[in-house]
Amino acid sequence: MSTSILSSTDEAHVSQTCKAYSLESTQFHALHSRSAGAKATAYCPYSQFRVGASILTDDGQYIDGANVENASYPVGTCAERVAFGKAITEGHKKFKAIAVATDISPPASPCGMCRQFIREFCELQTPIIMFDKDGNFVVMRLEQLLPLSFGPEALPRPGSLPARG
Ligand code: THU
Repeated sequence: MSTSILSSTDEAHVSQTCKAYSLESTQFHALHSRSAGAKATAYCPYSQFRVGASILTDDGQYIDGANVENASYPVGTCAERVAFGKAITEGHKKFKAIAVATDISPPASPCGMCRQFIREFCELQTPIIMFDKDGNFVVMRLEQLLPLSFGPEALPRPGSLPARG
């Protein structure tokens, strides 16, 4: 398990990451620029903490999101859940990688609620790339960020419940 901080301007780090997670270098750089760019769309007047997210689908499309806060603080939504809400409602079903970018260093990682939200839609091996303000990054698989996770396969499938009454 690698938790070292790598640099997106170091081609050795990028190619090593792409090889390990089956990404094209162009996809890696797009995930970086899109997640960093999505920070500009954040609505975060309360925390001033901008978060951008970008999801790469299996068929090579990108869906971006940012955090959207609310005067009733707990109602606010993280960037990752905004992006996945868009992806799912736009009909995307398979995802290859997720990127999250913030203005801090070292890189911030998705909150617990977002890890569980991502778990609903992604394979456990899906890489989550976390970029800091300078383009340094840490990459971990979903199963590393959320070990022993609970997912949809644990529940009976709709329609397979015993009939009541
Ligand atoms: N935030 C995210 O968007 N993603 C995370 O994984 C961590 C936190 C947002 C929520 C809130 O708008 C701000 O960052 C400060 O917590």
